[in-house]
Amino acid sequence: MAFTEIIPGIHYVGVNDRTTTRFESLWSLPYGVSYNSYLIVDEKVALIDTVEVSYAEQFVENIRTILGNRPIDYLIVDHMEPDHSSSIRTLRLLYPEMQIIGNAKTIQMLNGYYGVQDHTIEVKEGDNLSLGKKSLSFYFAPMVHWPEVMVSYCPEHKVLFSADAFGTFGALNGGILDSQVELDHIWDEMRRYYACIVGKYGAPVQKALQKLGGLAIETICPTHGPVWQEQIGRVIEIYDRLSRYDAEPGVVIAYGSMYGNTAQMAEKIARELATQGLKKIFVYDLSYADISVVLRDVFKYDTLIVGSPTYNAELFPEVKTLLEKLSERCVPHRNFACFGSFTWAGAAVKHMEEFARKMKWEPICPSIEMKQGYDAQGAELCGTLARAVAEKIQK
Ligand code: FEO
Repeated sequence: MAFTEIIPGIHYVGVNDRTTTRFESLWSLPYGVSYNSYLIVDEKVALIDTVEVSYAEQFVENIRTILGNRPIDYLIVDHMEPDHSSSIRTLRLLYPEMQIIGNAKTIQMLNGYYGVQDHTIEVKEGDNLSLGKKSLSFYFAPMVHWPEVMVSYCPEHKVLFSADAFGTFGALNGGILDSQVELDHIWDEMRRYYACIVGKYGAPVQKALQKLGGLAIETICPTHGPVWQEQIGRVIEIYDRLSRYDAEPGVVIAYGSMYGNTAQMAEKIARELATQGLKKIFVYDLSYADISVVLRDVFKYDTLIVGSPTYNAELFPEVKTLLEKLSERCVPHRNFACFGSFTWAGAAVKHMEEFARKMKWEPICPSIEMKQGYDAQGAELCGTLARAVAEKIQK
């Protein structure tokens, strides 16, 4: 069996992208990303999802290595985001008789994005497509994280083709199955992927998990990252926890600082938290930190302390950006505290408290605000805040 034949008759035909620096032009890709596609070869041939169009030539080569001149009968489109759909036009030229399968929303998007109107088959929830000895059933997973998303399930092999769900950032370094891959950094890349891409849609993810709970699953084939077999339990647990916004004990301190005074406050707070016995403390200067990593850690840990100087009677811009991203993702609860500084008129703390009110987060201790330079008085304020936070979360 070829290495890329992950299950008899089911082949991995995806590609690695190690050159794009920002996914969706937003999120960093320090380890690259894979665009996964799967080919089922039976009496009929079905391809599940495609890849980003810059990699179409390599993708077609992967397919032709397996199929030779045999045509593709069906293209299953589980997700229309262009990292998975932008090779559809190319495939249509090469395989003009190929039927494209999707739900009503997919069919609309095929036309809207690529002008594809013919040779399409609309499926409904639970429909089954026979390929010969294997078949595929389709289940809709709307808003995980686009409205047309569906998953395809092969009951004969208990394989779930899950679209973006259970995907991770990070290209595949040779291995395809989780048993063939070094997973150390993958868990954080899964959380970072979730927080950035799927993070707003906790409720739809929960619905999808409940729906899929009735299926016997031995293999999960996502559109990014490793194919899951050995680690299915852990993968589902991570997704379940993230989509419930459930976090583990740990403190993220995220701040902006123009002249170093607010930075000194952050350092003092972190030191005092450590003095109080806390260990999982993660400090980020938002002018330099990777925002996707900060989001990942806010999804992972239960306590967030934010610091900002007053800037044009507003929050420091990078702090504002972080808070906006958290608001967009509807994170329902975190232990929250904030600190700020100003030169002639304080506004930052007021804005952070307003943010907490809008999020319905009850601050766990009074905010502190420092005027001008960091000094012994500022240090004392920070110590007080840190001790109050430590006391609350250690309870
Ligand atoms: Fe990997 Fe939502 O596309």
